[in-house]
Amino acid sequence: MTDLKAIDGTEVSALCFGCMQFGGTADGQASRDMYEACRVAGVNFFDTAHTYTGGEAERLLGLFSRQDRERLIIATKAAYTGGSGRNNILRQFDESRARMNLDMIDILYLHRWDPDTPLDETFETLSELQQTGAIRYIGVSNFAAWQVMKAQGVANLVGTRIDVIQPMYSLIKRQAEVEIFPMAIDEGIAVAPYSPLGSGFLTGKYLTGGTGRLSTDKRYAARYGQDWMVDTAQCLSGIATEMGIDAATLAVAWAAQHTAVTAPIISARSVAQLQPSLEARNLKLTDEAYDRIEALSVRPAPATDRLEEAVF
Ligand SMILES: NC(=O)c1ccc[n+]([C@@H]2O[C@H](COP(=O)([O-])OP(=O)(O)OC[C@H]3O[C@@H](n4cnc5c(N)ncnc54)[C@H](OP(=O)(O)O)[C@@H]3O)[C@@H](O)[C@H]2O)c1
Repeated sequence: MTDLKAIDGTEVSALCFGCMQFGGTADGQASRDMYEACRVAGVNFFDTAHTYTGGEAERLLGLFSRQDRERLIIATKAAYTGGSGRNNILRQFDESRARMNLDMIDILYLHRWDPDTPLDETFETLSELQQTGAIRYIGVSNFAAWQVMKAQGVANLVGTRIDVIQPMYSLIKRQAEVEIFPMAIDEGIAVAPYSPLGSGFLTGKYLTGGTGRLSTDKRYAARYGQDWMVDTAQCLSGIATEMGIDAATLAVAWAAQHTAVTAPIISARSVAQLQPSLEARNLKLTDEAYDRIEALSVRPAPATDRLEEAVF
């Protein structure tokens, strides 16, 4: 089992913070404030990517994290564009290191599956980065379970392994429960799932005329555009009101509580937005509350059709 730790041995925190808004909807000061609020709350796991905000997200994270470096786990991602070939990975990784002013980045993820590059070329490159101490852990994001396992076989052949995966996961995006999570448990792979709030949808703000990423970005509007999701968000907000907490706290705590999950990746554009997600670190749902929330969306069908023998 991959036990993610900082260089000084500090265990990974129960939440990860995603820096995708740094230098975008969050300016430099708002980004710094969120970074500091995370540190005060004990978060030591930070996620970014080569592709975010034209490099500003990496630059700001590098700047804020300098004094605390040994106690942190910093992840970035390569190859969202340009494919997973050796030259592209090395070029983007070097740019990421330069932006962050870091020699070593704890986790390097492949941002998505590349059907056109041989896996041995990709994993030989990642293994080399690991052997030279430029990265400590190898990750993959947005891979199907079969893609992780195919890549894991190749990684093993070149003397390394996939340590951590980053799938999408929330109460309204549950595909990962079917094969990805059971695979991760079986393989001992850490899981840092993204978008536990459904990119803001589960805060309930869109039910009351609020605005945000889903009103400005068509890709997100399409991702969360199914009618049933409205009912789910409404009922979740109702339960949160009953419990006297914020719907965002409940949504993050629910995603965090799946046995496979190491640390969900939370995010925001301001500290005020961030606080309810950070509060999730203090909320352990009872089995009854967990099941009640689980019933607010359809459990995805199991991976085989022999339903009478399926173990849920
Ligand atoms: N691997 C990948 O392909 C991938 C993809 C996406 C994300 N990620 C990673 O995962 C991280 C988190 O993803 P995410 O941002 O989608 O997570 P999320 O927690 O589902 O959504 C966060 C967004 O919800 C809105 N929000 C948060 N708290 C709120 C509140 N209290 N009230 C109202 N709105 C609130 C904000 O957006 P608005 O203000 O704009 O509404 C915020 O940016 C990213 O930073 C990134 O590191 C990875």
